[in-house]
Amino acid sequence: MGKLAIMSDLHVDINRLAEPEFALLVEVLRERQITRVHFAGDTANKITTTLAVNHYFVQAGFPVTFNLGNHEMADLSGEEAIEHFPDHDFLNLRTKRLNEQTVLLGLNGWYDYQFSELSDPQKISAMKNLYWYDRNIKRAADDLTTNQHMLTAVKIVLDDLARKKQQVVIATHFVPQAAFIVTLTGKYQVWNKLNAFLGSRSLGELFDQYDNLQQVVFGHTHRRFPDQVIHGTRYSCRPFGYFYEWRLTRDFVLANQLVTEYNPMKLRPVIRQHQPAFDQYRNAHLKIEFAQAMTIVDY
Ligand SMILES: [Fe+2]
Ligand SMILES: [Fe+2]
Repeated sequence: MGKLAIMSDLHVDINRLAEPEFALLVEVLRERQITRVHFAGDTANKITTTLAVNHYFVQAGFPVTFNLGNHEMADLSGEEAIEHFPDHDFLNLRTKRLNEQTVLLGLNGWYDYQFSELSDPQKISAMKNLYWYDRNIKRAADDLTTNQHMLTAVKIVLDDLARKKQQVVIATHFVPQAAFIVTLTGKYQVWNKLNAFLGSRSLGELFDQYDNLQQVVFGHTHRRFPDQVIHGTRYSCRPFGYFYEWRLTRDFVLANQLVTEYNPMKLRPVIRQHQPAFDQYRNAHLKIEFAQAMTIVDY
């Protein structure tokens, strides 16, 4: 018996996480008797940083695998590097055996624009080039073609695993089910259009066709949700997210009455003004935040 911990969106550069914080995460992993770790993308903006984080946890005694998030993809050049990054621990369209009947399948994932309220791909693509971090990602084909290529490749792997009667745990970066897409109202409605880049409904529909998918774990949303079972498969989404989105940050600003209305997008200047107190609070509560942002799969 082992325990796999899947985490995503550590964003160690933006969150200024380094060895003291990684040591706290190691404590959480040990306390929970974790035997293997998978990072499901957005560990950092630089791939070299992501690899250094992986290395830290390997040194701490945990076998580590990972797939890419959009933040790492923006630091890579070429389709080959994104799909087949040359690292022993990289898991995209590849499996790692967990036990006799179960494998972990890693997938970078992509998006098919179907979570947007817009339907014109050209309009959506234009919005991406204006507003979205992923405009920095250079892929060989347009987004919808890239998604189609991904579906074809994933289907080959899943058909093969179904034939071999393997149970599958999938770790991926982007959202595969509409149940995890939040529609906003009022002045934040513009985000509903940008939901185009959150994930791929067509990938979820492909998953729906298999009855040997035990669990699908993903991130990217920077929102944590309760698990949901869809077509017999458990879906888990608990990204770590940016520091101003953390639960502990909300507790800090509310407990100290630093804001009258909680809005994570407006917290950075507030935190800057109270940096020493925030840092102290963060250090005291970071282990709980890590634990809340972790999906544990027994195998
Ligand atoms: Fe992220
Ligand atoms: Fe992401």
